[in-house]
Amino acid sequence: MNEIRKKPRFPFPRYPRGWFQVAYVDEIEPGQVMPLKYFGKDFVLFRNESGELAMLDAFCPHLGAHLGYGGKVVGDSIRCPFHAWEFGASGKCTAVPYAKRIPAKAEMKAHPIREINGLVMAWFDVDGEPPAWEIPKIPEYDSEEWTPYLRRRWQLRTHNQEMAENVVDIAHFKYVHGMKIVPQPHLVEASYPTLRMETKTVMETPMGDVEGILSVECHGFGFSTSRFSGLVRTTVIASVTPIDDEYVDVRFSFAVHKGAGADVARGIGKAFTAEIARQLEEDKPVWENKTYFERPMLCDGDGPIGEFRRWCKQFYPEWYVKQAAEEYAVAHAS
Ligand code: FES
Ligand SMILES: [Fe+2]
Repeated sequence: MNEIRKKPRFPFPRYPRGWFQVAYVDEIEPGQVMPLKYFGKDFVLFRNESGELAMLDAFCPHLGAHLGYGGKVVGDSIRCPFHAWEFGASGKCTAVPYAKRIPAKAEMKAHPIREINGLVMAWFDVDGEPPAWEIPKIPEYDSEEWTPYLRRRWQLRTHNQEMAENVVDIAHFKYVHGMKIVPQPHLVEASYPTLRMETKTVMETPMGDVEGILSVECHGFGFSTSRFSGLVRTTVIASVTPIDDEYVDVRFSFAVHKGAGADVARGIGKAFTAEIARQLEEDKPVWENKTYFERPMLCDGDGPIGEFRRWCKQFYPEWYVKQAAEEYAVAHAS
């Protein structure tokens, strides 16, 4: 029987290495269990009664139940809904209530996670390698000087790399987003895993157009901060997590500096959130339907797209790049 497979949409690998947001810290209290679907796989996230957070592969090694659906936290472990085997935060089986001996290999794979900046970040590496870097702490989170996050979330049919390319694609800001000036960003840093870019920009606010500086910092493809300094300082944390072969989960967390007073910050926060959400909605039909050219026809007014794409390559192992390119070539040959 022929396997029915969709044509891969992109000639590069689907799942880059890095830290990716899978939840907000406050969404998962002690005793809570959450099923997750990311990186084309199923997982279970739970916080045990000691407060320790764990992300395990979803399926019980016994007879395959999904622990995210009906699994219960008992003490420091999660109990399978099917036959009550228990697993600790490390994934080791801690109890089989009806057996004399726990099978030696009874274990679920645990994935590296961090609780940072109010976000739960999971490490993904297609080769299963341990984390190669850490996400930095940002001063906006949990600060008296900044508003708590305003949150927005979307599911989009695109790829992390395509969304990230938006930042260096300067011409689209005018033609998709109607900005009055085409920003002129320069790459301040393109190392591993950090990309930093700065540009002068004009933000439209309820108080009129405000000139300011936009600085964007990406730490791999999963976590970036965009900071606008103008009349009021604002920050948007963009988290993009691949769900499967087609979709990404996008969470934007907005914070506004309270320097001009809490009321002003609230007002600006709302307008700022609406403006960035509007921009994302404008990008959406392009992203969801475009194709990707490895050799695009660029002109002198385009941004540093080549440099950006060289930076992207660092997040996929060589074998994975080769495999994706071959699969793409075969699928698109006919
Ligand atoms: S499937 Fe989990 S205990 Fe049997
Ligand atoms: Fe855009």
